[in-house]
Amino acid sequence: MKTTTIFIFFTFSFLTSIKATNTIFINQTIKDGQTIVSPQQAFELGFFTPSNTSRNRYLAIWYKKQATRTVAWVANRDFPIPNNSGELALDPDGVLVLRDSSTNTIVWSTASPGTAAAGNPVARLSDSGNLIVVDDDDSPENYIWQSFDHPGDTLLPGMKFGRSLHEKGILVTNVTSWKSVDDPSKGTFMVYMDFNGFPQIFIKNGDVIQHRLGIWNGIGYTGMPTLRTNNPIFTYEYVSNETSTYSVFNLINTSVLTRTTISPSGDLGWFNWIDRTHGWFLYLTPAGDNCARYALCGVYGSCDIQQSQSCACLRGFTPKRVDRWDISDWSDGCRREMPLNCSIGVGFRRYTSMKLPDTQGSWYDTSMGIEQCRVKCRDECNCTAYTQLDIKYGTGCLLWYDELIDMRTFPNTGQDIYIKMAAAELAKDMKVSRKKKQVLVIAIPVTLGLVILLGVCLLIIRKKMKQKLNAQVTEDPIEPKDVINVPLFKLSALLVATDNFSVNNKLGEGGFGPVYKVLFNLEF
Ligand SMILES: *[C@@H]1O[C@H](CO)[C@@H](O)[C@H](O)[C@H]1NC(C)=O
Ligand SMILES: *[C@@H]1O[C@H](CO)[C@@H](O)[C@H](O)[C@H]1NC(C)=O
Ligand SMILES: *[C@@H]1O[C@H](CO)[C@@H](O)[C@H](O)[C@H]1NC(C)=O
Ligand SMILES: *[C@@H]1O[C@H](CO)[C@@H](O)[C@H](O)[C@H]1NC(C)=O
Ligand SMILES: *[C@@H]1O[C@H](CO)[C@@H](O)[C@H](O)[C@H]1NC(C)=O
Ligand SMILES: *[C@@H]1O[C@H](CO)[C@@H](O)[C@H](O)[C@H]1NC(C)=O
Ligand SMILES: *[C@@H]1O[C@H](CO)[C@@H](O)[C@H](O)[C@H]1NC(C)=O
Ligand SMILES: *[C@@H]1O[C@H](CO)[C@@H](O)[C@H](O)[C@H]1NC(C)=O
Repeated sequence: MKTTTIFIFFTFSFLTSIKATNTIFINQTIKDGQTIVSPQQAFELGFFTPSNTSRNRYLAIWYKKQATRTVAWVANRDFPIPNNSGELALDPDGVLVLRDSSTNTIVWSTASPGTAAAGNPVARLSDSGNLIVVDDDDSPENYIWQSFDHPGDTLLPGMKFGRSLHEKGILVTNVTSWKSVDDPSKGTFMVYMDFNGFPQIFIKNGDVIQHRLGIWNGIGYTGMPTLRTNNPIFTYEYVSNETSTYSVFNLINTSVLTRTTISPSGDLGWFNWIDRTHGWFLYLTPAGDNCARYALCGVYGSCDIQQSQSCACLRGFTPKRVDRWDISDWSDGCRREMPLNCSIGVGFRRYTSMKLPDTQGSWYDTSMGIEQCRVKCRDECNCTAYTQLDIKYGTGCLLWYDELIDMRTFPNTGQDIYIKMAAAELAKDMKVSRKKKQVLVIAIPVTLGLVILLGVCLLIIRKKMKQKLNAQVTEDPIEPKDVINVPLFKLSALLVATDNFSVNNKLGEGGFGPVYKVLFNLEF
């Protein structure tokens, strides 16, 4: 009797330990060597050693199906366990605790102020790679804790990146690189959302900004035109209201594996798993070229990757330090050729196909129209530029108040920005357009006169030709020299140039162009 019970108990516990489960119950311990697996076998949670040179153990979540282990999340990234004595347990308050059993010290835990479970909490690993602590019967929305709120170096589909209000307060999420490929402790590179002015995504190395992925413009991030919402693998979303501002990407087909990771050397990439090649394919990366370097061209400078000299001052601006500029030290940037003076008069010049400048000092209004926006910027002397906030719906207003920095050209995907300029500078534009008008005004009478003149000439010439032809018949052949002397040569040129004198037709066709040709030919 007793032995049967023990036998059954043993069989049962043996089965539960080998049967992969995705749940950790109260007082249950996951020891080093044991794992839990998500229901569809997508992710696995357990202990691992990232390096073959150290024996440090980390509690982590990795992709289950792959032979080469790709780690998506590490719990104790800054607190390794030196040997296999790690144990993960869920205590009755719903707090996950990672202990080093040999020293009985707490290495890591999910405890945070105000955490309290009402009923019977469990921890579950989901197929999205999220470790969630919930009250047993609760919906996942009422989770006590989730690993998605605490990303490591990787963003998975469904992770909110930015800032959102929780019951426990404001949660800020950002992504920090590993120190090296075999050391998951926090490295120097961080991807984060900055909430000064209109929110932007930055990548920094220590305290130094490396790249600015920019603002959300309704279609994508201005500094990352290759990442668009209309993409076959994931949808990309930007949510912003009084309480939350974040980005999230969601898979269109959940059987596709995709992740965004920053490498220990600071390279941010979107990767897709390709089954056929058993490898991660770098789908896109924002920091592709030299122009992606933050503020490379200084203030009022713009980077153009297609030029041999990447940096140029915007029209109306000139290098602050020509000596440095010429040896490709562009960081001083540019200054205005005509200084701004609000009391003398200002206006705006449109610059097209731009990556919008840094918005850290900006002001915005998501509902203001572009005309109101222009007026606001015009009336505020310290406003330097304005543009539309959302290019998808054509709404919103974004204003800059400082010197504009970190701009580049994106030939097909860039945006328009209207920069405040001195009236004297804008007068140059006026002169150019007036010159064009003058040409037009003069050219029309000239061409009209010319047509009449040509008509008259043609009549005279035809008459003469007829006379000469008649003469040829009756008189001696004309010397070639004589032929050249008569205006026949010019006529032939004219005939070619005017397509056998269908000048009227040409003018009728809307050509000012063809008329120029005639003028040109007549001069010879
Ligand atoms: C968990 O362990 C604590 C302390 O050992 C005990 O008081 C509690 O009853 C246990 N809870 C369950 C559900 O086993
Ligand atoms: C560690 O592993 C890598 C790749 O698996 C290998 O190239 C390297 O030689 C190993 N180092 C040591 C010290 O075993
Ligand atoms: C594990 O490491 C700890 C701390 O370094 C040490 O005290 C303990 O003896 C080790 N345990 C084993 C089983 O090696
Ligand atoms: C990154 O996230 C941590 C944890 O939420 C937060 O304390 C920190 O302020 C964030 N850093 C930045 C630059 O956003
Ligand atoms: C803000 O957005 C979040 C996430 O979509 C949502 O849960 C929340 O209710 C929104 N708040 C307001 C005030 O609209
Ligand atoms: C999702 O992708 C898998 C594997 O590529 C494919 O078999 C399946 O049909 C796709 N599902 C949808 C809804 O497109
Ligand atoms: C702007 O112009 C006014 C009028 O000419 C002049 O008095 C003022 O000093 C100028 N301000 C600056 C900053 O140049
Ligand atoms: C710009 O000037 C306005 C007054 O015209 C002032 O209220 C505002 O604070 C200034 N903004 C900045 C960023 O200096």
